[in-house]
Amino acid sequence: MKIAIGSDHAGFRLKQQLNEVIVKMGHEIEDVGFNGTESVDYPDFASEVCNRVVAGKADRGILICGTGIGMSIAANKIPGIRCALVHDVFSAKATREHNDTNVLAMGERVVGPGLAEEIIATWLDTQFSEGERHIGRINKIKALEDRNALHP
Ligand code: RB5
Repeated sequence: MKIAIGSDHAGFRLKQQLNEVIVKMGHEIEDVGFNGTESVDYPDFASEVCNRVVAGKADRGILICGTGIGMSIAANKIPGIRCALVHDVFSAKATREHNDTNVLAMGERVVGPGLAEEIIATWLDTQFSEGERHIGRINKIKALEDRNALHP
């Protein structure tokens, strides 16, 4: 798969490390930044990654900030994005099977590097279960997006 990945200053070290793991798993990476320790704004990088996913330029997106919280909030504002904030392997598997999430957010200040790698590997390897009840619920999320869309 083609994976778009982005972080702010608080997530860039973990992003660098995950880039290597993801490539070793056989995926292609597009890293949209940030690469440095100067303070930057996580919504800018969330939108870079999510726009690629919505446009079909990336199959999935990964977002890392200090907690993962800001990234996940920003990502879920973008219609078509289903982003999960995940810090355990059980949720990484469940959110692919049940929610068909296309973006994953994590916090570098929350998880250690070993656990982060396991979470990413699980999330990338797990397929959506295609269960009728899950599809119905995702369609209800899409309906919420449509009902609350701004029409300028
Ligand atoms: C940056 O200090 C921090 O606020 C950011 O990385 C993230 O944790 C926000 O949710």
